[in-house]
Amino acid sequence: HSRWPGLIEAYRDRLPIGESWEPVTLYEGGTPLIRATHLSAVTGCEVYLKVEGLNPTGSFKDRGMTMAVTDAKARGQRAVLCASTGNTSASAAAYATRAGMECAVLIPQGKIAAGKLAQAVMMGATIIQVDGNFDDCLELARKTTATYAEIGLVNSVNPVRIEGQKTAAFEIVDVLGRAPDLHFLPVGNAGNITAYWRGYSEYHADGIIPNRPRMMGVQAAGAAPLVDGAPVKNPETIATAIRIGAPASWDGAVNAREESGGTFRKRTDEQILEAYRMVAGKDGVYVEPASAASVAGLLDAHAGGELEAGQTIVCTVTGNGLKDPDTALLGMPEVEPVPVDPSAVAGALGLE
Ligand code: F0G
Repeated sequence: HSRWPGLIEAYRDRLPIGESWEPVTLYEGGTPLIRATHLSAVTGCEVYLKVEGLNPTGSFKDRGMTMAVTDAKARGQRAVLCASTGNTSASAAAYATRAGMECAVLIPQGKIAAGKLAQAVMMGATIIQVDGNFDDCLELARKTTATYAEIGLVNSVNPVRIEGQKTAAFEIVDVLGRAPDLHFLPVGNAGNITAYWRGYSEYHADGIIPNRPRMMGVQAAGAAPLVDGAPVKNPETIATAIRIGAPASWDGAVNAREESGGTFRKRTDEQILEAYRMVAGKDGVYVEPASAASVAGLLDAHAGGELEAGQTIVCTVTGNGLKDPDTALLGMPEVEPVPVDPSAVAGALGLE
């Protein structure tokens, strides 16, 4: 019974890592695949949650970041840069610190969750608020790193990010002993759906699994370029992590959908928040709003009669609910304090 070594050591033979390279790691990956009792009962399927919020900085970005920063360090770069709706910046800040490198993050002004900003601040990143949205930040990051070779770009346009993230698909198969029938996940910049499809496809090509899942991508209605078939100029959604109008991995996402016979769909903020509350309140897994898009997509597929009873389904929940307490507490009424009295506690529980 040995300790999880981090995903680079766990899957080294499947990753583009030089033999002498020392991984920059926080022991990311190895996240739990939790059977969702409530969602399984609701849908008549075997529904599992891949709980990526339990990575070291609280999101799936750590999978890509251990690779990207290991790679940047091995290449002798001194600093890393990313554009981010929040999670990538928290992850980049942490891994850069581990590597002894500088980190700068470009974030859309006023549009990232408080917990994510706090992480980047605490881990010493240089925070640059940009007067624009994520798409503007990414363009700026690309241009900057194209000009300054000593700065590594650690967004998912960096191919080693995708390589790290594909390991989530390996883990799911390694735990289930098979591929799921359907895989739902939120889609923003589209790196993650591209990565999962690569992971499943590599296991399939090696004969480890006979079939691959249908990839079911879910976007927010106000930021659904892949569903609408064209970039969105001014994306808007309460799920700020996926407030993206021009996904960099557009082709990867479309390829995953086409090759897998999957679907793209969009859900309104209200539907995403309903799923957000359900997965916490009924299955005990507190995720951030964007992460609940996968669950909102599952509920929609169920309502539309797209599921077959007994199917094995995985929903990736990409980030931890603790990142965004403001959304969790939206509309919460002021509560009156109770006296120091057991009967008041029992009364509040409805037991008296
Ligand atoms: N879920 C969460 C919690 C995210 O932070 C992101 C992306 C996604 C889903 C979508 O993944 O971009 O690979 O399709 N967040 C990026 C960031 C953009 O900057 O943290 P994707």
